[in-house]
Amino acid sequence: KRIAIFASGSGSNAQKIMEHFKNSAEVEIALVLTNNPDAYVLQRADNFEIPSHVFDRKEFYHTDHITDLLKNLDIDLVVLAGFLWLIPKNLIHEYPGRIINIHPAILPKFGGKGMYGDHVHLAVLEAGESEGGITIHYVNENYDEGEYIYQARYRVDKEDNLEMLKFKGQQLEHQHYPRIVEGILKKIKK
Ligand code: GRF
Repeated sequence: KRIAIFASGSGSNAQKIMEHFKNSAEVEIALVLTNNPDAYVLQRADNFEIPSHVFDRKEFYHTDHITDLLKNLDIDLVVLAGFLWLIPKNLIHEYPGRIINIHPAILPKFGGKGMYGDHVHLAVLEAGESEGGITIHYVNENYDEGEYIYQARYRVDKEDNLEMLKFKGQQLEHQHYPRIVEGILKKIKK
């Protein structure tokens, strides 16, 4: 099975997925894609000798290049890992039920446009929540609205600050995303 990873930034989740499948005979990470030429995920892909592709808005939203690229590489599953742009309709239609995302909150709380990165954790603190968490979900045409696949929670302690919540969320993401990806791939028929 072949996967493509989309990421816009550091790519620590992408890294965990690359490590997870490094010696796999069944799963290959065929391509890493990003909208951000400075994204550290590009360095990580290089380190694992995984090819990468940088695209801009025009290419992503106004051409079929990206869909064609994924088709030509025979991609089975698209994994979003900190990718910040909305997925265009044509790509969703080409990969029905084959695009997944991870979000650093227990959706449907703290999701939607503008709810990413620090914004999520700050909103959790601001709301005085007693727990935070992560959601892994299928991607549809709206931000953070596709069917949920998996959720995990952590406790918010009184003394927790932004850094602590980020850390707790990231721990859960790194622990679960690779194995959930693996589970979904097992169910995909070639
Ligand atoms: C993660 O918190 C993920 O949930 C969110 O963006 C962050 C990406 O972090 N969508 P990284 O680039 O994988 O380190």
